Amino acid sequence: MSTADQLIIFDTTLRDGEQSPGASMTQYEKVRIAKALERMQVDVIEAGFAIASQGDFEAVKAVADTVKNSIVCSLARVMDADIDRAGEALKGACSARIHTFIATSPIHMQYKLRLTEEEVLARAVKAIKRARRYVDDVEFSCEDAVRSEPDFLCRMIEAAINAGAGTINIPDTVGYAIPERFGALMATLLERIPNADQAVFSVHCHNDLGLAVANSLAAVQQGARQVECTINGLGERAGNAALEEVVMAVNTRQDLFTVNTRLNTKEIVPASRLVSSITGFPVQPNKAIVGANAFAHESGIHQDGVLKFRETYEIMRAEDVGWHTNKMVLGKHSGRNAFKARLDELGITLADDQALQEAFKHFKALADKKHEIFDEDLHALVTDTQKQAEVEVYQLLSLKVCSETGTTPVAMLELKVDGQVKVAESEGSGPVDATFKAIENIANSGTHLELYLVNAITSGTDSQGEVTVRLNKAGRVVNGQGADTDIVVASAKAYLNALNFVLVGTKPHPQTDGV
Ligand code: KIV
Ligand code: ZN
Repeated sequence: MSTADQLIIFDTTLRDGEQSPGASMTQYEKVRIAKALERMQVDVIEAGFAIASQGDFEAVKAVADTVKNSIVCSLARVMDADIDRAGEALKGACSARIHTFIATSPIHMQYKLRLTEEEVLARAVKAIKRARRYVDDVEFSCEDAVRSEPDFLCRMIEAAINAGAGTINIPDTVGYAIPERFGALMATLLERIPNADQAVFSVHCHNDLGLAVANSLAAVQQGARQVECTINGLGERAGNAALEEVVMAVNTRQDLFTVNTRLNTKEIVPASRLVSSITGFPVQPNKAIVGANAFAHESGIHQDGVLKFRETYEIMRAEDVGWHTNKMVLGKHSGRNAFKARLDELGITLADDQALQEAFKHFKALADKKHEIFDEDLHALVTDTQKQAEVEVYQLLSLKVCSETGTTPVAMLELKVDGQVKVAESEGSGPVDATFKAIENIANSGTHLELYLVNAITSGTDSQGEVTVRLNKAGRVVNGQGADTDIVVASAKAYLNALNFVLVGTKPHPQTDGV
């Protein structure tokens, strides 16, 4: 395979994915996901927006210091401070990229930036040159490219390449494109820009019209050689192009695509589960590739066909994307070494021996309640024990719920709040409602519950329930998670986890600011 045939997969789950309301991740979680992406052989991992906060800086740095076989990238606006912060965070990376961007559409330049075309062009060129002082690998994005004037876009991109950008990204920032037109735009740019052959052209499509993957593929057919995407299609608003769909479309329709990726597709389903478990964004059952029903043949006719000759109804093999690889790994009699060995195989590293000890204690408690422990259980257990906000104000000490037909459920609980033990009791319309009300009797948080979701991690009634709670406090949205074989306990843990995140400060959004 020549390099011209390689389609570069640029994953932005940790940056654009994190911009989904409530999907913010801790540094530890970002490193876990980055390792899963590295195992999958993703080419570029966009680890975050280093200038956004000290936490974001540390997370980009931690990913850069950990990942060895993928390029690690940080986003930066075309501002000196952004570029310097990105350069600083990426210092320890084996291969680093700075991704700088500015909007090029009339609507963004006039109303958001209040800059002329010439000013935008000059700032972009200056930023690219500054980024080149830190790294050889610089990507430039024309934000809202789809609604930009083609003449200006061509001029901007030519100047960006001359300034040293090796990758030019064409984002459909607002998800407005239609495949045929978007493909034509890519063809026009490649044809009209005199130095286009000196850069890799990339696409970054949002899914507002449900066309992000279709648009990305249309551009690939016209010569784009990098696709920016996210696991499970996570991302701002309706999300980004789903990595798993782009990659499997290219792999499955080799009759139509002249490109290939270097991805290990067997890591797709494990990565999808990890991202879902960490962010609390569930995967819908009918989601392509990674949904629980994606390979389930319900109707008798289909089952009959598949049994006679698999290709009658299956265009891909479930095992090629990592289904059915969840082994029964551990049980009640497994020791600490076996537990640690399986965590290592799953790419999960705990901070220190104390964290391992703590996780092992939880594992033993789980194994007492649940006969067979699967990989998904281990992921949930680690997420549950490690998903802590920077501020751990609320901790669950005990919970008792009385629920009986014909009576009103009552919850009694004990919390540790800033080191002090507090007790509360409440009735509710159900056991979970009573529990949340009892928590609020203590916390009085002023938050609004936006989402309450329970998901069985594995099959069987002894499965752990994984609960996501989304809270909104004055427009700030956070997700909390909890897992337990008792879903009321899991719910309480998730609610308290969200409350702890509410107490952590906000951070700026890269695309709302001017320059
Ligand atoms: O959607 C977008 O335009 C972006 C850019 C920062 C690349 O996310
Ligand atoms: Zn985006």
